[in-house]
Amino acid sequence: MPSDTPILSLENLSKTFAVRPVFGRASAVNALRNVSLDLLPGRALALVGESGSGKSTFGKMIVGVHAPTSGRILFEGNDISGMTAKADQKRYRQAVQMVFQDPFSSLNPAHTIRHHLLRALALHQPEADPDTALQAILKDVELDPASTPGKFPHELSGGQRQRVNFARALAVKARMIVADEPTSMLDVSIRKSVLGLMQRLKSEHGLSILYITHDIATAEYLAEDTAVMFRGQVVEKGPTSQVVGNPQHGYTKLLRAAGPNPEVRLTGSDAGFAAQAKLVREASTQVVSALCEINPGHFIAEHTEMAHV
Ligand SMILES: Nc1ncnc2c1ncn2[C@@H]1O[C@H](COP(=O)(O)OP(=O)(O)OP(=O)(O)O)[C@@H](O)[C@H]1O
Ligand SMILES: [Mg+2]
Repeated sequence: MPSDTPILSLENLSKTFAVRPVFGRASAVNALRNVSLDLLPGRALALVGESGSGKSTFGKMIVGVHAPTSGRILFEGNDISGMTAKADQKRYRQAVQMVFQDPFSSLNPAHTIRHHLLRALALHQPEADPDTALQAILKDVELDPASTPGKFPHELSGGQRQRVNFARALAVKARMIVADEPTSMLDVSIRKSVLGLMQRLKSEHGLSILYITHDIATAEYLAEDTAVMFRGQVVEKGPTSQVVGNPQHGYTKLLRAAGPNPEVRLTGSDAGFAAQAKLVREASTQVVSALCEINPGHFIAEHTEMAHV
């Protein structure tokens, strides 16, 4: 039974990027504004929202690619910025692994799959017999343990390469995976099987998953909880059954109706969509002043006017 104590808590996270001056004028992008979310062990949290809403920035802050401008990241209750001991930092980096959209990006084309995985196993499971552990991990991610180890990344399909990335997370004994659009570069026909693999990693290995996606429909398949981001802010969050099944914020309704391509509906001519889109345009000039709990665990944003965007 999964525990209700978060493995990771994000408290009031904000990220402002300085943008290089154009014609002498420096500016800034508020990529994330005051985002608070909890990830529970053995569960998946879907982070959905259109392009540029801040999803990847959020994922990258969790794995330490970007430092927050303000706010805190707590791993099992401990602020990661206060982890000064090398051993604690190593434990966190090992526990939280990222899987990227492009399955090639984290594989070295010059090395076989065996090399990639044995390296991870030697560092993180030195007590295990490497070849036995390698075989077990490949079976776990549904790759052929006989033919896969000797192959180079370019000799695998996109879906198989993504499976190697999940295998690497198992090899380092990750406890949580940040998966940033892990299926969007894959052929439509194999997306479902990779989602199925993530589902199994969660239920059989107890891994927690932050699943970043444009596609709100896949959140229903994988994630117990869903948070909806709009322009760097969370506008709705809670159990997926409520957020996706019965959305309450105008933007979530729009995303839900749009399916995997939210851009389409933002310009839709249908009167219902036009009304929702107006609401969304208005919301974009406002900040989320508070999240209001409308049902147990289900929150939606209350907006107030912003002095400047
Ligand atoms: N390193 C950076 N420097 C400056 N601005 C950045 C940087 N990274 C992201 N941004 C800006 O922050 C905002 C959020 O970007 P982010 O990549 O997090 O969006 P996203 O929701 O992941 O979008 P997509 O769905 O297209 O991947 C965008 O306006 C983006 O241009
Ligand atoms: Mg992104």
